[in-house]
Amino acid sequence: MTHEVLVVGSANADLVVQADRRPAAGETVLGGDTVISPGGKGANTAVAAAKLGADVALVAAIGDDPYGAMLTESLRGAGVHTDLLRTVSRPTGIAYITVTPDGENSILVSPGANGELGPAHVVDALTGAKVLVASLEVPLHTVESAVAAAAGAGVRTVLNLSPTAKVSSRTLAALDVLLVNEHEAAWLLGSDAELAGLLELGPRAAVVTLGARGALVITPSGTTEIASPEVQAVDTTGAGDGFAGALTAALAGGAELEPAARRAVRVAAISVTRPGAQPSYPSADELAPW
Ligand code: RIB
Repeated sequence: MTHEVLVVGSANADLVVQADRRPAAGETVLGGDTVISPGGKGANTAVAAAKLGADVALVAAIGDDPYGAMLTESLRGAGVHTDLLRTVSRPTGIAYITVTPDGENSILVSPGANGELGPAHVVDALTGAKVLVASLEVPLHTVESAVAAAAGAGVRTVLNLSPTAKVSSRTLAALDVLLVNEHEAAWLLGSDAELAGLLELGPRAAVVTLGARGALVITPSGTTEIASPEVQAVDTTGAGDGFAGALTAALAGGAELEPAARRAVRVAAISVTRPGAQPSYPSADELAPW
């Protein structure tokens, strides 16, 4: 079976607690009731793209447990193809998430099954794909091999460098789009460097997300700033993954990078107005008025 968008990345159960503040080292803080919802950077990206109408498959690994079943149901409900989802003999990944009243989150991930995602799971799936998008809660060598195989097969490549990892210069040079937030860009370049320096690392273009301020699109012809609509954030969890999914869906649909990023900025803005990651992404109909 072929799919236009291939997402390579994690699938996690998100265990989310609202709290007035994050605990410091050695401290105990009481929060609200735990809400369990489907997450993981890969699964989130796939769901965001599928909700916008893209033909998407997720290459990921889950455990044979209730969280794996919850994720499979969420993916299918959003229209993501799950034929490339592997069930392995480790527990489904879990993300322990604290959300504070300003909508900001902090996340601790126990990767579990995600650690078993291997390169062979990806290569067979490339036939017929238009865009591959990967993120890094799965083994680095799997992502690097997926990017190399996709580039070799003429499939457009997008890497969401989240969480940061020491990707090789060869991988960076095989990218059509490097997608980072400001912290990840500073991790790559140093905090005072010009963001246009991202292109010197090898990708043909870079997109830097700026949270509530929107995003920058950086190409050899220059840098374009895309402002975000003003919204009241209640939960920023998964906004970057929603951006990645929307960007990739638009690219697979034939959009140029700048309009694709404009659409992705709006999707991310909507997502922060709603709790959770996957449940917060808009459908194409919901996005239309924005
Ligand atoms: O980017 C947000 C995601 O990061 C959450 O859904 C959580 O699972 C972690 O992977």
